[in-house]
Amino acid sequence: MYIFLWIVAIVLIVYAMVKFLKYRPLTPFMPYKYNFGKRRVTFRKVLDLLEKTNAKMIVETGTSRAGLKGAKGDGAATIVFGKWAKENGAFMHSVDISEDSVKGSQAEVDAQELNNHVTVHLSDSLLFLKNFKEKVDFLYLDSYDYSKDLEVQRLSQEHHLKEFMAIENQLHENTIVLIDDCRLPNGGKGKTVIAYMLKNDWKILIEAYQVLLVRKEFKF
Ligand SMILES: C[S@@+](CC[C@H](N)C(=O)[O-])C[C@H]1O[C@@H](n2cnc3c(N)ncnc32)[C@H](O)[C@@H]1O
Repeated sequence: MYIFLWIVAIVLIVYAMVKFLKYRPLTPFMPYKYNFGKRRVTFRKVLDLLEKTNAKMIVETGTSRAGLKGAKGDGAATIVFGKWAKENGAFMHSVDISEDSVKGSQAEVDAQELNNHVTVHLSDSLLFLKNFKEKVDFLYLDSYDYSKDLEVQRLSQEHHLKEFMAIENQLHENTIVLIDDCRLPNGGKGKTVIAYMLKNDWKILIEAYQVLLVRKEFKF
């Protein structure tokens, strides 16, 4: 009987360790209390690649309207990658069409003292991306909210494709692209843009709740 209990305990401990290693939090980079849930795997990989590629320019569509409180809900990417930018001499632009979202995000950018490394822009993302003249090292697409409504799903998928096409000429051979909210009914935000990218020289590095893509010739 005791041997059986020991075996069960060991199996549970190994299971917990595997889970922890696979989904380990973003500590020490972000405090343990922020749980990035289903985005941890991809956020961690992006942080690793940002360092390896010596990224200097980050662009995000859809800003962290809830600040760090949205770590589990929306993702809080503006703050996570903005903090990385601050610690690594990089710069981040985050664009959002909603005044309220910009206000919420800006408040957290202020609170975290990221202003020298993060600018939150109030604009439609397509307009902003079309006019963006610098090369982008990391592109994060997370704007037009997805929903259960089939027409909203189609519009969201189309919008994310248009965003990619608007900035495509500013992406280089080692640009990293991350797309949020993909593991959702009917393919999520990324369905149409990922299909386009796969036909055009890109490959998937991680396919999870978020999808991480790089060029086929990506060196890192
Ligand atoms: C899910 S939130 C972004 C979350 C954020 N990336 C994070 O990690 O916390 C989506 C945001 O996209 C914005 N949005 C929707 N349509 C947009 C558009 N056409 N251009 C720019 N932003 C848009 C919404 O106002 C909303 O604030």
